[in-house]
Amino acid sequence: MHETVEKILLSEEQIEEAVEKIARRIDSDYTGKEPIAICVLKGSVMFFSDLMRRLQTPMQFDFMAVSSYGNSSESSGTLKVMTDLRTDVKGRDVLIVEDIIDSGFTLMKLKELLGKRGAASVKVVTLLDKWERREYPVIPEYCCFQIPDEFVVGYGLDYAEKFRQLPYIGILR
Ligand code: PRP
Repeated sequence: MHETVEKILLSEEQIEEAVEKIARRIDSDYTGKEPIAICVLKGSVMFFSDLMRRLQTPMQFDFMAVSSYGNSSESSGTLKVMTDLRTDVKGRDVLIVEDIIDSGFTLMKLKELLGKRGAASVKVVTLLDKWERREYPVIPEYCCFQIPDEFVVGYGLDYAEKFRQLPYIGILR
């Protein structure tokens, strides 16, 4: 275990098992469809790549990087798109792949944006849901783990850009 990690919240094995379970649900819901999976950079990259490898559904991949600006605890906050999709989502089924939902602001704005661009459907799969911190009404269709309000790192999640490469989710010391 890394020296600055106080405790492993979710082990590699727990994550692997949960990703497999959620993949089976997604496959069964998207039978006959060819959705676009959007990896929301950077935190989702590990989850995205593990999840995609377990899906049978033919997925297109695309990537987005976004940042929340202003006071995100007010609806006046805005979502800035740092890196945009290359795919036109008009008429397409879109699956947003997130590492964590906190206030829900990012996802609320992202879903609005993809809706405005004419996506036929927009669903969300998240690895982690810190549901106690929710300020905006976002409910993911697929969630691997609901977690307590602790600062977590690893498996894509960072603290000041560090610890993303840890293979498990840990709580910082
Ligand atoms: C995290 C996460 C979500 C967002 C959730 O991204 O990946 O996109 O924050 O927070 P919210 O529900 O309060 O909006 P972050 O801004 O840390 O960027 P990163 O993925 O590049 O680390």
